[in-house]
Amino acid sequence: MNTADLRARLLAWYDANARALPWRVGPADHALGVRADPYRVWLSEVMLQQTTVPHAAPYFLKFIARWPTVSELAAEEDGEVMAAWAGLGYYARARNLLACARAVARDHGGVFPDTEEGLRSLPGLGPYTAAAVGAIAFDLPTNVVDGNVERVMARLFAVETPLPAVKPKLKALAAGLVADERPGDWAQALMDLGATICRPKAPLCERCPLAADCAARALGAPERFPVKGLKAERPRRHGVAYVLTRGGDVALVRRPPKGLLGGMLALPTTDWRAAVFGDAEAKAGAPAAAEWRAVGEIEHVFTHFSLTLRVMRAEGDADGVIWTPPGGLEALPSVFLKAARAGLGNLI
Ligand code: ADE
Repeated sequence: MNTADLRARLLAWYDANARALPWRVGPADHALGVRADPYRVWLSEVMLQQTTVPHAAPYFLKFIARWPTVSELAAEEDGEVMAAWAGLGYYARARNLLACARAVARDHGGVFPDTEEGLRSLPGLGPYTAAAVGAIAFDLPTNVVDGNVERVMARLFAVETPLPAVKPKLKALAAGLVADERPGDWAQALMDLGATICRPKAPLCERCPLAADCAARALGAPERFPVKGLKAERPRRHGVAYVLTRGGDVALVRRPPKGLLGGMLALPTTDWRAAVFGDAEAKAGAPAAAEWRAVGEIEHVFTHFSLTLRVMRAEGDADGVIWTPPGGLEALPSVFLKAARAGLGNLI
């Protein structure tokens, strides 16, 4: 494999096929000297760590419209940012996002550091994000390896070691292709190739600029890579969520700051545990004495477990809850929005 030739083909492919993304400076503008705003690059990378480009894009646009600079984001109240993040999941990341914005505003005069070490020193900014912001915003020749890039490397070199043990090897293979020329475009070209051509299923090898070099394609089995290790099945937990209404308003609570969905608005719920809740227990755990009736169940998949929530509904009153009109339920994480919709009969 001729690395210089391979790089030239992928960069030429990117010049012709780069996705237009709201945080991206495309290759033509970049060649004219336009630089990406580190704040936008950082924000997009944090959002994209847990979700796809189509899901993240509206959130990105909402954040940028509301907080055009990192200093404006840093000055916002926690609850406002957590509410705007609702639906993106992984809420610890929203808290880290704020901690990082405040460190940039307070310790760096609102300007992101322009070295990989400087970026790494920011709270919550891990090796992946530091490498990505370094390459895309500052054209540093860092090694940016996300799941897309891992898949491209596993196929290009037909690496037989299964995930996750193979990750360091895939990172080293990617490092061997990084060069000083156009590092930001290179990082984004690899990501776009992984997302649009070298897809997990049904890769479009006939359109791939690296097809001639691809060892997995030569074996006739690109989809077999990266080889997956045996995954432990996700355990299932059960709980009960309570939709208590008073007039048109719904009773919400704020979850404790630490732990799953920490600091987010929520429906009152029982603990989530392995055993199913019976009818008597479901009524006993309710946040208020009322005529509770069971209205159904919802399912939600978290990283480490699947959850079945029984949804109970009643009209009544309670102390210590946050009465919220239906329009405010958008600040709920998806699991509770699903339960609220079940409880309110899809009126929201
Ligand atoms: N996925 C994660 N970061 C990305 C980026 N900067 N461009 C395209 N896809 C991405």
